[in-house]
Amino acid sequence: MPANQPIGVFDSGIGGLTVANAIQKLMPKEALVYFGDTAHLPYGDKSPEAIKYYSLKIAKFLMDEGCKAIVIACNTASSLAYHDLKLFLGAQIPIYSVIDPVVDYMTSSDQFQNIGVIATRATINSNIYAEKIYLQKPKIRVKSLATPLLAPMIEEGFFNDQISGTLIHTYLSDPVLQGIDSLILACTHYPLIRNEIAAYYQPKITIIDNTEIVAKHLQKELLRMDLLNGEEPQPHRFYVSDFTDSFEKSTRLFFGHQIQLQLRQIWD
Ligand code: DGL
Repeated sequence: MPANQPIGVFDSGIGGLTVANAIQKLMPKEALVYFGDTAHLPYGDKSPEAIKYYSLKIAKFLMDEGCKAIVIACNTASSLAYHDLKLFLGAQIPIYSVIDPVVDYMTSSDQFQNIGVIATRATINSNIYAEKIYLQKPKIRVKSLATPLLAPMIEEGFFNDQISGTLIHTYLSDPVLQGIDSLILACTHYPLIRNEIAAYYQPKITIIDNTEIVAKHLQKELLRMDLLNGEEPQPHRFYVSDFTDSFEKSTRLFFGHQIQLQLRQIWD
């Protein structure tokens, strides 16, 4: 696979653009092909079977687009579809979840002993963070809370306001999260409310946002496989399965500036 081929990145919608943004900041020579499955958003309330089916179709599309590697920029799809996708792609294209690099980061020192995780219902129900952390460091306690209203709230543009303040306060004051020393924002939408969450906790706990950790892990992997692009990159391509003006406008929030989305139907 030539190193000048693009990196495929996908999410249930445009939230995964936070990961795409971190990748392009760290590796400006890399071209991206982004697919946001806006027709099936949100994944957080879908069944595991549906999430696996959608993810496989998207991986096939990104493969056909010539991607040299694929990043699942969605915790929900990473929780439920990563293994199926890895089997499907085999040795052809490396695929990365947003979960494993964060688990490695959290367990690489003794800094964190009581880790909180907030995410969609599907991610929390999968129990994936608790299980993976347990396998690496059984003594670490993991306290997980489903926060299903946060992603739709952010998609609707409610953050840094009274509505987001009330909802964030309500979720974070849940007794389940008491006593944590760190909190994983296990949904690719949540970097947009990172400051509000940090303000709730003051500097008392460490807030972990997956995006930079995932981008750094990808960079290391591409370097290891001799797949880092050294040439002038091709332009990025951004696809969605359902187009509305509001999706396009919201890309500014997630990617830093507004981008042009192309509608692409990949379902039979
Ligand atoms: N971006 C998805 C994630 O990281 C959440 C949004 C959804 O429910 O589709 O889990």
